[in-house]
Amino acid sequence: MSDDLFTDQHDYLRVHFAEQNLYANYHYFWLRHHCPCCIHPTTKEHMLCPAQVSLEIKPQRIAATDAGLHLTWPDGHQSTFAIDWLYEHRYSRDEDLTQIAAQDLNRIEVQYEDCADELVSACHYYLRERGAILVRACPLDAEQLIARFTTRDFIIRGTHFGEIEDLKTDNTTNQNTDQLGYTNSAVDLHTDQPYIENPPRFQLLQCVEKADTGGESLIADARQAAYYLRDLDYHAFEVLSETPIVFHRQQQNFESKVTYPILSFNSGKFAQIRSSYFTYAPQHMAFDKMEQWYRAYQKFTRIVVESAHQFKFLLEPGDFVLYDNFTVLHGRTSFTGPRWMKGIYFDLAIE
Ligand SMILES: [Fe+2]
Repeated sequence: MSDDLFTDQHDYLRVHFAEQNLYANYHYFWLRHHCPCCIHPTTKEHMLCPAQVSLEIKPQRIAATDAGLHLTWPDGHQSTFAIDWLYEHRYSRDEDLTQIAAQDLNRIEVQYEDCADELVSACHYYLRERGAILVRACPLDAEQLIARFTTRDFIIRGTHFGEIEDLKTDNTTNQNTDQLGYTNSAVDLHTDQPYIENPPRFQLLQCVEKADTGGESLIADARQAAYYLRDLDYHAFEVLSETPIVFHRQQQNFESKVTYPILSFNSGKFAQIRSSYFTYAPQHMAFDKMEQWYRAYQKFTRIVVESAHQFKFLLEPGDFVLYDNFTVLHGRTSFTGPRWMKGIYFDLAIE
């Protein structure tokens, strides 16, 4: 049996039964529970209780051998599953679950000189198809970028920070700078301004100065993660799609509060994510619903923070990243030094 007959999907194992030409998916916790050697030596009864297996368990190593699939678990325990046994006990539907595309930076990265004349068209394409575009070595300053974008399809969107944000620790140009973006702290994955009725659709971040250490940018595809969650755990998906959450931004000179679910759909199609851990108000919901929401939120977050599911890159002076604030999450690592990003929000002129 060769290695390409199984794939590690991060949260589960997908096996291809070549003889029958079908696929089946197995949760790792299910495989650990059914380890063939964890039985009583004489009675052959199961010795593992389902309650003893962590739902988060994941093998450190998976290999195809002549005896079947060989899994090595984090505590060193090893399990070998005969292919015939896996086939006999398959329980998932024979269909593809949503996959999250491998976050190869080539999927979003372009050189300015390769698309200079078609910059806005290129941005449209990448935003629609990938949710983000990373443009390297762009000679245009923030005002010139605005001029390019606003002659075509985009309109600049002023917010309570102003029109161009100088995201740096010693900011003197913006209003309402009492928030994480203006510090050198890490800002984990989030969307911008989920606490207002109509959050800006796109954000462009242009690097003026990079940090001495740290300050890497993070991007995760929330739309794919939401579909992935739907296939992996429909109940969690429903909870995040249907539970209204209060977002509350309280600053010295600004306050806004709205109530929306994390995930919004329109006629079954993903429409928008609102997510920012620093603006969740204390929520009011039935006692049993509270735990359900936390479980669902944690499951979704584990998907988006999985390193294979997110882009991580360093913006150099002259680079910019532009992303869809409705479909991707963004963040940055903590930093030292003079990191300075110019931030501009855009909406589409015609939705
Ligand atoms: Fe942000």
